[in-house]
Amino acid sequence: SRAIKIAPSILAADFANFGAECRAVEDQGADWVHVDVMDGHFVPNITFGPATCAAIRPHIRGVMDVHLMIAPVDPYIEGFAKAGADFITAHMEAGPHIHRTLQAIRGSGAKAGLALNPGTGLDGVENLLDMIDLVCVMTVNPGFGGQKFIDMTDKVQRLRALIGARPIHIEIDGGITPDTAPVMARAGADVLVAGSAVFKGGSVQNPAPYGDNIRAI
Ligand code: DX5
Ligand code: ZN
Repeated sequence: SRAIKIAPSILAADFANFGAECRAVEDQGADWVHVDVMDGHFVPNITFGPATCAAIRPHIRGVMDVHLMIAPVDPYIEGFAKAGADFITAHMEAGPHIHRTLQAIRGSGAKAGLALNPGTGLDGVENLLDMIDLVCVMTVNPGFGGQKFIDMTDKVQRLRALIGARPIHIEIDGGITPDTAPVMARAGADVLVAGSAVFKGGSVQNPAPYGDNIRAI
């Protein structure tokens, strides 16, 4: 059985206290910290950019997982890599040249992630398998935290089969709760992003027992 990692999304954290929030979730068992970058163009919401990522970086001991919901992507890759992102994930839907974008991400020294909106199928993924370290299967339409989970069990199962023995993570993002997490882990996901389920109303809920539940599957 593969190790399941919990990646709290700081989109649901206190934006005035990212440093403390990152340290708190790591102290409580988070494996990765998920950082949602939105541009008000690719998605109808704006968060922050590379300067904020660089400021957060020293407060994360583990993996900094940067999810870019921006278009275009390419002009900003170097900036996020310099900010210390371990993974940089770009959307299949963000432009016509995802292959070039993934090349540029690997070229920057970061690991490359490919995100798929709920309406996007697996057709194009096959051609990119040698260029990616992670596929992020969105289980909400990106833009906001706290949305209702859209079941992508079938897509995750088919993706897991497509990936085969390659060392590629399957990450699930959106609407993950103690109820939906085990379902997606069973389907083949190994990185579970959780915003509102971990950070609730400014207080931090301990993700450790949550992670432990998942690991017991
Ligand atoms: C959605 C973001 C997600 C989101 C997850 O656009 O990419 O990372 O913050 O938040 P919850 O867990 O609240 O759905
Ligand atoms: Zn995200």
